[in-house]
Amino acid sequence: MGPVKRICCIGAGYVGGPTCSVIAQMCPEIAVTVVDVNEERIQAWNSDQLPIFEPGLQEVVEAQRGINLFFSTDIDKAVREADIIFISVNTPTKTFGLGKGRAADLKYIEACARRIAQVATGYKIVVEKSTVPVRAAESIQRIFSANTKSDLSFQVLSNPEFLAEGTAISDLKNPDRVLIGGDETPEGQRAIETLSSIYVRWVPKTRIITTNTWSSELSKLAANAFLAQRISSINSISALCEVTGADVEEVAHAIGTDQRIGNRFLKASVAGFGGSCFQKDVLNLVYLCEALNLPEVARYWQQVIELNEYQRRRFAARIISCLFNTVTDKKIALLGFAFKKDTGDTRESSSIHISKYLMDEGARLHIYDPKVKKEQIMQDLSHSTASAEDPERGLSLVSIASDPYEACDNAHAIVICTEWDIFKELDYERIYQAMLKPAFIFDGRRILDSLHGQLQQLGFQVETIGKRISQRIPFTASTIAQLDLQAPPLKKMKI
Ligand code: UDX
Ligand code: UDX
Repeated sequence: MGPVKRICCIGAGYVGGPTCSVIAQMCPEIAVTVVDVNEERIQAWNSDQLPIFEPGLQEVVEAQRGINLFFSTDIDKAVREADIIFISVNTPTKTFGLGKGRAADLKYIEACARRIAQVATGYKIVVEKSTVPVRAAESIQRIFSANTKSDLSFQVLSNPEFLAEGTAISDLKNPDRVLIGGDETPEGQRAIETLSSIYVRWVPKTRIITTNTWSSELSKLAANAFLAQRISSINSISALCEVTGADVEEVAHAIGTDQRIGNRFLKASVAGFGGSCFQKDVLNLVYLCEALNLPEVARYWQQVIELNEYQRRRFAARIISCLFNTVTDKKIALLGFAFKKDTGDTRESSSIHISKYLMDEGARLHIYDPKVKKEQIMQDLSHSTASAEDPERGLSLVSIASDPYEACDNAHAIVICTEWDIFKELDYERIYQAMLKPAFIFDGRRILDSLHGQLQQLGFQVETIGKRISQRIPFTASTIAQLDLQAPPLKKMKI
Protein backbone atom coordinates (compact mmCIF):
# COMPACT_ATOMS: atom_id res chain seq x y z
CA MET A 1 0.00 0.00 0.00
CA GLY A 2 1.30 3.47 -0.91
CA PRO A 3 0.80 6.50 1.29
CA VAL A 4 -2.65 6.80 2.83
CA LYS A 5 -4.79 9.21 0.83
CA ARG A 6 -8.28 8.68 2.17
CA ILE A 7 -9.69 7.76 5.55
CA CYS A 8 -13.32 6.97 6.22
CA CYS A 9 -14.91 6.74 9.65
CA ILE A 10 -18.27 5.06 10.18
CA GLY A 11 -20.02 6.68 13.17
CA ALA A 12 -20.12 10.47 13.63
CA GLY A 13 -20.53 10.39 17.41
CA TYR A 14 -18.52 11.58 20.40
CA VAL A 15 -15.61 9.38 19.35
CA GLY A 16 -15.70 9.42 15.53
CA GLY A 17 -16.39 13.15 15.09
CA PRO A 18 -13.62 14.66 17.25
CA THR A 19 -11.08 11.94 16.38
CA CYS A 20 -11.43 12.47 12.64
CA SER A 21 -11.50 16.24 12.96
CA VAL A 22 -8.10 16.13 14.67
CA ILE A 23 -6.70 13.59 12.17
CA ALA A 24 -7.83 15.93 9.34
CA GLN A 25 -6.12 18.88 11.01
CA MET A 26 -2.89 16.97 11.59
CA CYS A 27 -2.79 15.37 8.11
CA PRO A 28 -3.72 18.07 5.58
CA GLU A 29 -2.94 15.85 2.58
CA ILE A 30 -5.35 13.10 3.69
CA ALA A 31 -9.06 13.39 2.92
CA VAL A 32 -11.09 12.32 5.95
CA THR A 33 -14.78 11.50 5.51
CA VAL A 34 -17.00 10.80 8.52
CA VAL A 35 -20.19 8.95 7.65
CA ASP A 36 -23.26 8.07 9.66
CA VAL A 37 -26.68 6.51 9.09
CA ASN A 38 -28.22 9.37 11.03
CA GLU A 39 -28.99 12.10 8.50
CA GLU A 40 -29.86 14.71 11.11
CA ARG A 41 -26.53 14.20 12.83
CA ILE A 42 -24.61 14.62 9.58
CA GLN A 43 -26.57 17.77 8.79
CA ALA A 44 -25.60 19.13 12.19
CA TRP A 45 -21.92 18.34 11.57
CA ASN A 46 -22.23 20.36 8.36
CA SER A 47 -23.83 23.33 10.15
CA ASP A 48 -22.85 25.93 12.76
CA GLN A 49 -24.59 23.91 15.46
CA LEU A 50 -22.42 20.82 15.83
CA PRO A 51 -24.28 17.84 17.29
CA ILE A 52 -21.93 17.61 20.26
CA PHE A 53 -20.36 20.23 22.50
CA GLU A 54 -16.65 19.82 23.08
CA PRO A 55 -14.26 22.68 23.91
CA GLY A 56 -12.11 23.52 20.85
CA LEU A 57 -14.01 21.21 18.49
CA GLN A 58 -15.87 23.92 16.58
CA GLU A 59 -12.60 25.66 15.67
CA VAL A 60 -11.01 22.46 14.35
CA VAL A 61 -14.10 21.54 12.33
CA GLU A 62 -14.44 25.02 10.87
CA ALA A 63 -10.78 25.08 9.86
CA GLN A 64 -10.91 21.74 7.99
CA ARG A 65 -14.50 21.19 6.85
CA GLY A 66 -14.84 21.25 3.07
CA ILE A 67 -11.05 21.19 2.71
CA ASN A 68 -10.03 17.71 3.84
CA LEU A 69 -12.79 16.94 6.34
CA PHE A 70 -16.21 15.83 5.07
CA PHE A 71 -19.39 14.65 6.78
CA SER A 72 -21.71 12.52 4.69
CA THR A 73 -24.44 9.87 4.73
CA ASP A 74 -23.04 8.19 1.62
CA ILE A 75 -21.41 5.35 3.53
CA ASP A 76 -20.78 3.10 0.53
CA LYS A 77 -18.93 5.73 -1.46
CA ALA A 78 -16.70 6.67 1.46
CA VAL A 79 -15.95 3.00 2.20
CA ARG A 80 -15.12 2.25 -1.42
CA GLU A 81 -12.70 5.15 -1.71
CA ALA A 82 -10.93 4.80 1.65
CA ASP A 83 -7.56 3.18 2.33
CA ILE A 84 -8.30 3.02 6.06
CA ILE A 85 -11.80 2.57 7.52
CA PHE A 86 -12.40 3.35 11.17
CA ILE A 87 -15.42 1.77 12.82
CA SER A 88 -16.67 4.13 15.57
CA VAL A 89 -20.26 3.02 15.95
CA ASN A 90 -21.82 2.55 19.36
CA THR A 91 -21.68 -0.74 21.23
CA PRO A 92 -24.44 -0.38 23.84
CA THR A 93 -25.10 -2.83 26.64
CA LYS A 94 -27.58 -5.46 25.47
CA THR A 95 -31.11 -4.82 26.68
CA PHE A 96 -32.50 -8.25 25.87
CA GLY A 97 -31.45 -11.82 25.18
CA LEU A 98 -28.29 -13.60 26.24
CA GLY A 99 -26.05 -11.38 28.34
CA LYS A 100 -28.85 -8.82 28.80
CA GLY A 101 -27.80 -5.87 30.96
CA ARG A 102 -24.11 -6.75 30.71
CA ALA A 103 -22.80 -7.94 27.36
CA ALA A 104 -22.00 -5.41 24.65
CA ASP A 105 -24.30 -5.47 21.68
CA LEU A 106 -22.15 -5.81 18.59
CA LYS A 107 -24.95 -5.61 16.05
CA TYR A 108 -23.80 -2.26 14.67
CA ILE A 109 -20.19 -3.41 14.36
CA GLU A 110 -21.34 -6.54 12.58
CA ALA A 111 -23.57 -4.51 10.24
CA CYS A 112 -20.58 -2.30 9.36
CA ALA A 113 -18.35 -5.32 8.69
CA ARG A 114 -20.95 -6.85 6.38
CA ARG A 115 -21.43 -3.58 4.55
CA ILE A 116 -17.69 -3.12 4.04
CA ALA A 117 -17.35 -6.70 2.75
CA GLN A 118 -20.19 -6.05 0.32
CA VAL A 119 -19.13 -2.73 -1.17
CA ALA A 120 -15.34 -2.56 -0.81
CA THR A 121 -12.74 -3.64 -3.34
CA GLY A 122 -8.94 -3.65 -3.27
CA TYR A 123 -6.91 -3.58 -0.04
CA LYS A 124 -8.44 -2.04 3.09
CA ILE A 125 -7.27 -1.59 6.64
CA VAL A 126 -10.29 -1.82 8.92
CA VAL A 127 -9.74 -0.27 12.33
CA GLU A 128 -11.86 -1.08 15.36
CA LYS A 129 -12.14 2.19 17.32
CA SER A 130 -15.28 1.35 19.27
CA THR A 131 -14.71 -0.32 22.61
CA VAL A 132 -15.50 -3.95 22.06
CA PRO A 133 -15.37 -7.21 23.96
CA VAL A 134 -12.10 -9.07 23.61
CA ARG A 135 -11.90 -11.05 20.37
CA ALA A 136 -14.40 -8.85 18.50
CA ALA A 137 -11.80 -8.27 15.80
CA GLU A 138 -11.93 -11.99 15.21
CA SER A 139 -15.66 -11.73 14.48
CA ILE A 140 -15.04 -8.93 12.00
CA GLN A 141 -12.27 -10.98 10.42
CA ARG A 142 -14.55 -14.01 10.09
CA ILE A 143 -17.31 -11.97 8.47
CA PHE A 144 -14.78 -10.70 5.94
CA SER A 145 -13.35 -14.16 5.32
CA ALA A 146 -16.80 -15.70 4.84
CA ASN A 147 -17.78 -12.96 2.41
CA THR A 148 -14.50 -12.55 0.68
CA LYS A 149 -14.23 -11.66 -2.98
CA SER A 150 -11.23 -12.12 -5.22
CA ASP A 151 -10.81 -8.36 -5.53
CA LEU A 152 -10.90 -7.61 -1.77
CA SER A 153 -8.21 -8.05 0.85
CA PHE A 154 -8.01 -6.47 4.27
CA GLN A 155 -6.32 -6.32 7.65
CA VAL A 156 -8.26 -5.74 10.87
CA LEU A 157 -6.61 -3.62 13.57
CA SER A 158 -7.68 -2.63 17.06
CA ASN A 159 -6.99 1.04 17.87
CA PRO A 160 -9.11 1.96 20.90
CA GLU A 161 -9.69 5.62 21.70
CA PHE A 162 -8.89 6.90 25.19
CA LEU A 163 -10.22 10.46 24.89
CA ALA A 164 -12.37 11.76 27.72
CA GLU A 165 -15.33 13.98 26.90
CA GLY A 166 -14.87 17.62 27.80
CA THR A 167 -11.14 17.37 27.03
CA ALA A 168 -11.40 15.38 23.78
CA ILE A 169 -9.46 17.78 21.57
CA SER A 170 -6.49 18.17 23.90
CA ASP A 171 -6.53 14.41 24.65
CA LEU A 172 -6.44 13.70 20.91
CA LYS A 173 -3.70 16.22 20.20
CA ASN A 174 -1.57 15.18 23.12
CA PRO A 175 -2.45 11.59 24.04
CA ASP A 176 -0.73 9.65 26.84
CA ARG A 177 -0.45 6.85 24.33
CA VAL A 178 -1.86 5.53 21.09
CA LEU A 179 -2.53 1.82 21.18
CA ILE A 180 -2.54 -0.28 18.02
CA GLY A 181 -3.12 -4.02 18.03
CA GLY A 182 -2.85 -6.25 14.99
CA ASP A 183 -2.05 -9.70 13.67
CA GLU A 184 1.39 -11.04 14.42
CA THR A 185 1.84 -11.88 10.72
CA PRO A 186 4.02 -9.76 8.37
CA GLU A 187 0.81 -8.39 6.77
CA GLY A 188 -0.56 -7.51 10.19
CA GLN A 189 2.67 -5.73 11.13
CA ARG A 190 2.66 -3.78 7.87
CA ALA A 191 -0.91 -2.62 8.57
CA ILE A 192 0.17 -1.50 12.05
CA GLU A 193 3.00 0.49 10.48
CA THR A 194 0.62 2.14 8.03
CA LEU A 195 -1.73 3.25 10.82
CA SER A 196 1.24 4.37 12.97
CA SER A 197 2.40 6.52 10.08
CA ILE A 198 -0.73 8.64 10.58
CA TYR A 199 -0.28 9.20 14.31
CA VAL A 200 3.47 9.65 14.18
CA ARG A 201 2.93 13.07 12.57
CA TRP A 202 1.98 14.53 15.92
CA VAL A 203 2.48 11.82 18.57
CA PRO A 204 6.02 10.96 19.72
CA LYS A 205 6.97 7.44 18.56
CA THR A 206 7.61 6.36 22.17
CA ARG A 207 3.93 6.92 22.92
CA ILE A 208 2.72 4.61 20.16
CA ILE A 209 2.29 1.17 21.69
CA THR A 210 1.82 -1.81 19.42
CA THR A 211 0.52 -5.16 20.66
CA ASN A 212 -1.34 -8.15 19.39
CA THR A 213 -5.03 -7.59 18.69
CA TRP A 214 -6.37 -9.21 21.85
CA SER A 215 -4.04 -7.30 24.18
CA SER A 216 -5.18 -4.07 22.59
CA GLU A 217 -8.88 -4.90 22.98
CA LEU A 218 -8.44 -6.05 26.56
CA SER A 219 -6.28 -3.03 27.46
CA LYS A 220 -9.11 -0.68 26.62
CA LEU A 221 -11.57 -2.59 28.84
CA ALA A 222 -8.96 -2.90 31.58
CA ALA A 223 -8.06 0.82 31.48
CA ASN A 224 -11.68 1.85 31.88
CA ALA A 225 -12.23 -0.76 34.60
CA PHE A 226 -9.19 0.48 36.56
CA LEU A 227 -10.35 4.09 36.32
CA ALA A 228 -13.88 3.15 37.37
CA GLN A 229 -12.47 1.11 40.24
CA ARG A 230 -10.53 4.12 41.54
CA ILE A 231 -13.70 6.17 41.59
CA SER A 232 -15.58 3.46 43.45
CA SER A 233 -12.68 3.12 45.88
CA ILE A 234 -12.66 6.81 46.80
CA ASN A 235 -16.47 6.90 46.91
CA SER A 236 -16.44 4.01 49.38
CA ILE A 237 -14.07 6.06 51.54
CA SER A 238 -16.40 9.07 51.24
CA ALA A 239 -19.16 7.09 52.93
CA LEU A 240 -16.77 6.24 55.75
CA CYS A 241 -15.73 9.90 56.05
CA GLU A 242 -19.30 11.03 56.52
CA VAL A 243 -19.76 8.83 59.57
CA THR A 244 -16.31 9.33 61.11
CA GLY A 245 -15.72 13.05 60.68
CA ALA A 246 -12.82 12.59 58.25
CA ASP A 247 -12.85 14.66 55.06
CA VAL A 248 -12.55 12.67 51.83
CA GLU A 249 -10.78 15.55 50.05
CA GLU A 250 -8.08 15.54 52.72
CA VAL A 251 -7.81 11.78 52.54
CA ALA A 252 -7.59 11.89 48.72
CA HIS A 253 -4.85 14.50 48.91
CA ALA A 254 -2.94 12.56 51.55
CA ILE A 255 -3.02 9.27 49.67
CA GLY A 256 -2.59 10.89 46.25
CA THR A 257 0.79 12.33 47.14
CA ASP A 258 2.12 8.77 47.30
CA GLN A 259 3.57 8.50 43.81
CA ARG A 260 2.56 4.88 43.65
CA ILE A 261 -1.07 5.91 44.00
CA GLY A 262 -1.01 9.27 42.18
CA ASN A 263 -3.44 12.13 42.63
CA ARG A 264 -5.75 11.80 39.63
CA PHE A 265 -9.16 10.18 39.53
CA LEU A 266 -9.57 10.47 43.29
CA LYS A 267 -12.49 12.87 43.30
CA ALA A 268 -15.39 11.56 45.34
CA SER A 269 -18.78 12.82 44.19
CA VAL A 270 -22.44 12.04 43.81
CA ALA A 271 -21.69 11.20 40.20
CA GLY A 272 -19.99 7.98 40.83
CA PHE A 273 -18.83 7.27 37.35
CA GLY A 274 -21.23 8.52 34.72
CA GLY A 275 -20.74 8.63 30.98
CA SER A 276 -21.19 6.18 28.20
CA CYS A 277 -18.13 4.06 28.83
CA PHE A 278 -17.27 3.07 32.38
CA GLN A 279 -20.42 1.24 33.39
CA LYS A 280 -20.78 -0.40 29.99
CA ASP A 281 -17.19 -1.56 29.91
CA VAL A 282 -17.07 -2.87 33.48
CA LEU A 283 -20.31 -4.78 32.86
CA ASN A 284 -18.77 -6.07 29.70
CA LEU A 285 -15.72 -7.26 31.63
CA VAL A 286 -17.94 -8.97 34.20
CA TYR A 287 -19.81 -10.75 31.45
CA LEU A 288 -16.60 -11.80 29.76
CA CYS A 289 -15.23 -13.25 33.01
CA GLU A 290 -18.43 -15.16 33.66
CA ALA A 291 -18.46 -16.50 30.13
CA LEU A 292 -14.86 -17.62 30.56
CA ASN A 293 -15.69 -19.34 33.86
CA LEU A 294 -13.86 -16.90 36.11
CA PRO A 295 -16.63 -16.18 38.67
CA GLU A 296 -14.29 -14.74 41.34
CA VAL A 297 -12.91 -12.19 38.89
CA ALA A 298 -16.44 -11.37 37.69
CA ARG A 299 -17.62 -10.76 41.28
CA TYR A 300 -14.63 -8.51 41.97
CA TRP A 301 -15.51 -6.14 39.11
CA GLN A 302 -19.26 -6.39 39.72
CA GLN A 303 -18.68 -4.80 43.12
CA VAL A 304 -17.23 -1.70 41.40
CA ILE A 305 -20.63 -1.20 39.74
CA GLU A 306 -22.57 -1.87 42.91
CA LEU A 307 -20.61 0.71 44.86
CA ASN A 308 -21.38 3.22 42.11
CA GLU A 309 -25.09 2.63 42.44
CA TYR A 310 -24.87 2.79 46.23
CA GLN A 311 -23.18 6.21 46.04
CA ARG A 312 -26.09 7.75 44.11
CA ARG A 313 -28.72 6.01 46.22
CA ARG A 314 -27.29 7.17 49.49
CA PHE A 315 -26.96 10.78 48.27
CA ALA A 316 -30.64 10.81 47.23
CA ALA A 317 -31.53 9.28 50.60
CA ARG A 318 -29.58 12.03 52.38
CA ILE A 319 -31.46 14.75 50.49
CA ILE A 320 -34.79 13.25 51.53
CA SER A 321 -33.70 12.70 55.10
CA CYS A 322 -32.40 16.29 55.48
CA LEU A 323 -35.59 17.71 54.01
CA PHE A 324 -37.48 16.32 57.01
CA ASN A 325 -38.06 12.96 55.39
CA THR A 326 -40.30 14.21 52.67
CA VAL A 327 -39.77 15.95 49.38
CA THR A 328 -43.32 15.52 48.15
CA ASP A 329 -44.45 18.69 46.37
CA LYS A 330 -41.26 20.48 47.35
CA LYS A 331 -39.44 22.50 44.73
CA ILE A 332 -35.87 21.31 44.33
CA ALA A 333 -33.36 23.05 42.07
CA LEU A 334 -31.10 20.57 40.32
CA LEU A 335 -28.02 22.26 38.93
CA GLY A 336 -26.26 20.33 36.20
CA PHE A 337 -27.57 17.47 34.11
CA ALA A 338 -24.55 16.45 32.00
CA PHE A 339 -22.48 13.53 33.33
CA LYS A 340 -19.51 15.88 33.82
CA LYS A 341 -18.68 19.49 33.02
CA ASP A 342 -17.79 20.76 29.54
CA THR A 343 -20.01 18.29 27.72
CA GLY A 344 -23.68 18.18 26.81
CA ASP A 345 -23.68 14.37 27.09
CA THR A 346 -26.11 12.90 29.63
CA ARG A 347 -25.47 9.20 29.11
CA GLU A 348 -25.41 7.45 32.51
CA SER A 349 -25.42 10.84 34.20
CA SER A 350 -25.97 10.67 37.96
CA SER A 351 -28.44 13.54 37.52
CA ILE A 352 -30.82 11.11 35.84
CA HIS A 353 -30.63 8.71 38.76
CA ILE A 354 -30.94 11.41 41.43
CA SER A 355 -33.85 13.03 39.55
CA LYS A 356 -35.70 9.75 39.31
CA TYR A 357 -35.31 9.02 43.00
CA LEU A 358 -36.65 12.45 43.87
CA MET A 359 -39.47 12.28 41.31
CA ASP A 360 -40.57 8.97 42.74
CA GLU A 361 -40.93 10.75 46.08
CA GLY A 362 -43.08 13.43 44.42
CA ALA A 363 -40.51 16.27 44.35
CA ARG A 364 -40.94 19.09 41.84
CA LEU A 365 -37.63 19.41 40.00
CA HIS A 366 -36.40 22.60 38.39
CA ILE A 367 -33.39 21.65 36.33
CA TYR A 368 -30.71 23.92 34.89
CA ASP A 369 -27.77 22.87 32.73
CA PRO A 370 -25.79 25.24 30.51
CA LYS A 371 -25.37 22.73 27.65
CA VAL A 372 -28.06 20.04 27.84
CA LYS A 373 -31.19 20.64 25.79
CA LYS A 374 -34.66 20.47 27.33
CA GLU A 375 -35.76 17.64 24.99
CA GLN A 376 -32.81 15.54 26.10
CA ILE A 377 -33.64 15.99 29.80
CA MET A 378 -37.29 15.16 29.21
CA GLN A 379 -36.36 12.07 27.23
CA ASP A 380 -33.92 10.93 29.92
CA LEU A 381 -36.58 11.30 32.62
CA SER A 382 -39.45 9.84 30.67
CA HIS A 383 -38.70 6.36 32.00
CA SER A 384 -38.96 7.09 35.72
CA THR A 385 -41.46 5.03 37.68
CA ALA A 386 -43.38 8.24 38.33
CA SER A 387 -43.64 8.74 34.57
CA ALA A 388 -44.33 5.08 33.82
CA GLU A 389 -47.25 5.01 36.24
CA ASP A 390 -48.70 8.27 35.02
CA PRO A 391 -46.64 9.80 32.19
CA GLU A 392 -48.35 13.16 32.38
CA ARG A 393 -47.90 13.53 36.13
CA GLY A 394 -44.34 12.15 35.99
CA LEU A 395 -43.06 14.72 33.56
CA SER A 396 -45.21 17.47 35.06
CA LEU A 397 -42.87 17.20 38.04
CA VAL A 398 -40.02 18.45 35.84
CA SER A 399 -39.41 22.04 34.71
CA ILE A 400 -36.40 23.24 32.80
CA ALA A 401 -35.03 26.58 33.93
CA SER A 402 -33.28 28.98 31.58
CA ASP A 403 -30.91 30.19 34.28
CA PRO A 404 -29.79 28.96 37.70
CA TYR A 405 -31.52 31.79 39.59
CA GLU A 406 -34.89 30.87 38.11
CA ALA A 407 -34.27 27.24 39.11
CA CYS A 408 -33.52 28.25 42.73
CA ASP A 409 -36.32 30.77 43.16
CA ASN A 410 -38.64 29.59 45.96
CA ALA A 411 -36.87 26.25 46.20
CA HIS A 412 -36.39 24.24 49.39
CA ALA A 413 -33.05 22.93 48.26
CA ILE A 414 -30.32 23.14 45.64
CA VAL A 415 -28.71 19.93 44.48
CA ILE A 416 -25.47 20.34 42.51
CA CYS A 417 -25.00 17.32 40.29
CA THR A 418 -22.48 18.53 37.67
CA GLU A 419 -19.28 20.43 38.45
CA TRP A 420 -19.80 23.29 35.92
CA ASP A 421 -17.47 26.18 36.81
CA ILE A 422 -20.31 28.72 36.64
CA PHE A 423 -21.89 27.15 39.72
CA LYS A 424 -18.91 28.35 41.75
CA GLU A 425 -19.58 31.94 40.74
CA LEU A 426 -23.29 32.29 41.44
CA ASP A 427 -24.60 35.07 43.68
CA TYR A 428 -25.51 32.81 46.58
CA GLU A 429 -26.74 35.70 48.71
CA ARG A 430 -29.35 36.52 46.07
CA ILE A 431 -30.23 32.85 45.80
CA TYR A 432 -30.56 32.46 49.57
CA GLN A 433 -32.92 35.43 49.79
CA ALA A 434 -35.20 33.89 47.17
CA MET A 435 -35.34 30.41 48.71
CA LEU A 436 -37.65 28.90 51.32
CA LYS A 437 -36.08 28.49 54.76
CA PRO A 438 -34.31 26.51 55.96
CA ALA A 439 -32.48 26.64 52.64
CA PHE A 440 -30.38 23.60 51.80
CA ILE A 441 -27.46 23.16 49.43
CA PHE A 442 -26.39 19.62 48.57
CA ASP A 443 -22.98 20.01 46.98
CA GLY A 444 -22.77 16.67 45.21
CA ARG A 445 -19.50 17.58 43.49
CA ARG A 446 -17.53 19.34 46.24
CA ILE A 447 -17.21 22.43 44.03
CA LEU A 448 -18.18 24.88 46.76
CA ASP A 449 -15.64 23.70 49.36
CA SER A 450 -14.01 27.11 49.63
CA LEU A 451 -17.41 28.75 50.07
CA HIS A 452 -18.93 26.43 52.64
CA GLY A 453 -18.14 28.82 55.53
CA GLN A 454 -19.64 31.82 53.73
CA LEU A 455 -22.68 29.84 52.68
CA GLN A 456 -23.30 28.81 56.25
CA GLN A 457 -22.96 32.41 57.36
CA LEU A 458 -25.61 33.38 54.86
CA GLY A 459 -27.83 30.82 56.57
CA PHE A 460 -27.57 27.84 54.20
CA GLN A 461 -27.64 24.30 55.52
CA VAL A 462 -24.74 22.77 53.58
CA GLU A 463 -24.47 19.06 52.90
CA THR A 464 -21.73 17.53 50.83
CA ILE A 465 -20.08 14.26 49.89
CA GLY A 466 -17.45 12.79 52.16
CA LYS A 467 -17.57 15.40 54.92
CA ARG A 468 -19.95 16.41 57.68
CA ILE A 469 -20.58 20.16 57.59
CA SER A 470 -23.91 21.37 58.87
CA GLN A 471 -25.25 20.51 62.24
CA ARG A 472 -28.40 18.71 61.17
CA ILE A 473 -31.61 20.45 62.16
CA PRO A 474 -33.23 18.16 64.73
CA PHE A 475 -36.64 16.95 63.80
CA THR A 476 -39.05 14.36 64.97
CA ALA A 477 -40.35 12.14 62.30
CA SER A 478 -42.47 9.11 62.62
CA THR A 479 -40.84 7.54 59.64
CA ILE A 480 -37.28 7.45 58.45
CA ALA A 481 -36.23 8.20 54.92
CA GLN A 482 -38.03 5.84 52.66
CA LEU A 483 -35.03 4.94 50.54
CA ASP A 484 -33.64 1.71 51.89
CA LEU A 485 -29.88 1.71 51.48
CA GLN A 486 -29.77 -2.05 51.60
CA ALA A 487 -32.26 -2.34 48.78
CA PRO A 488 -31.10 -3.76 45.50
CA PRO A 489 -30.06 -1.01 43.12
CA LEU A 490 -32.89 1.09 41.75
CA LYS A 491 -35.52 -1.25 43.05
CA LYS A 492 -38.33 1.21 42.49
CA MET A 493 -37.16 2.68 39.27
CA LYS A 494 -36.85 1.55 35.74
CA ILE A 495 -33.65 3.06 34.45
C1 UDX B 1 -19.42 4.82 20.90
C2 UDX B 1 -19.32 3.89 22.09
O1 UDX B 1 -20.11 4.40 23.12
C3 UDX B 1 -17.92 3.70 22.57
O2 UDX B 1 -17.83 2.62 23.45
C4 UDX B 1 -17.06 3.34 21.46
O3 UDX B 1 -15.74 3.32 21.92
C5 UDX B 1 -17.25 4.26 20.29
O4 UDX B 1 -18.59 4.39 19.93
P1 UDX B 1 -19.74 7.41 20.83
O5 UDX B 1 -19.01 7.99 19.66
O6 UDX B 1 -19.81 8.21 22.07
O7 UDX B 1 -19.02 6.09 21.31
O8 UDX B 1 -21.17 6.90 20.36
P2 UDX B 1 -22.30 7.71 19.63
O9 UDX B 1 -22.17 9.17 19.94
O10 UDX B 1 -23.56 7.00 19.91
O11 UDX B 1 -21.94 7.57 18.08
C6 UDX B 1 -22.09 6.44 17.31
C7 UDX B 1 -22.62 6.85 15.94
O12 UDX B 1 -22.61 5.72 15.08
C8 UDX B 1 -24.06 7.38 15.94
O13 UDX B 1 -24.09 8.69 15.39
C9 UDX B 1 -24.82 6.39 15.06
O14 UDX B 1 -25.84 6.99 14.30
C10 UDX B 1 -23.72 5.81 14.21
N1 UDX B 1 -24.03 4.50 13.64
C11 UDX B 1 -24.45 3.49 14.42
C12 UDX B 1 -23.87 4.30 12.27
O15 UDX B 1 -23.53 5.22 11.54
N2 UDX B 1 -24.11 3.06 11.75
C13 UDX B 1 -24.55 2.03 12.52
O16 UDX B 1 -24.77 0.92 12.00
C14 UDX B 1 -24.72 2.24 13.90
C1 UDX C 1 -13.69 7.80 30.10
C2 UDX C 1 -12.17 7.56 30.10
O1 UDX C 1 -11.54 8.54 30.91
C3 UDX C 1 -11.63 7.60 28.68
O2 UDX C 1 -10.25 7.27 28.67
C4 UDX C 1 -12.41 6.60 27.83
O3 UDX C 1 -11.97 6.68 26.50
C5 UDX C 1 -13.88 6.86 27.90
O4 UDX C 1 -14.33 6.87 29.25
P1 UDX C 1 -15.27 9.93 29.99
O5 UDX C 1 -16.34 8.98 30.42
O6 UDX C 1 -15.53 10.80 28.81
O7 UDX C 1 -13.93 9.12 29.66
O8 UDX C 1 -14.92 10.92 31.21
P2 UDX C 1 -14.08 10.78 32.56
O9 UDX C 1 -13.37 12.06 32.76
O10 UDX C 1 -13.26 9.56 32.60
O11 UDX C 1 -15.22 10.72 33.67
C6 UDX C 1 -16.10 9.60 33.82
C7 UDX C 1 -16.98 9.80 35.05
O12 UDX C 1 -16.22 9.66 36.24
C8 UDX C 1 -17.64 11.17 35.14
O13 UDX C 1 -18.97 11.03 35.61
C9 UDX C 1 -16.81 11.91 36.15
O14 UDX C 1 -17.52 12.91 36.81
C10 UDX C 1 -16.43 10.78 37.09
N1 UDX C 1 -15.19 11.03 37.85
C11 UDX C 1 -13.99 11.18 37.21
C12 UDX C 1 -15.24 11.07 39.24
O15 UDX C 1 -16.31 10.90 39.84
N2 UDX C 1 -14.07 11.28 39.94
C13 UDX C 1 -12.87 11.45 39.33
O16 UDX C 1 -11.88 11.64 40.03
C14 UDX C 1 -12.84 11.40 37.91
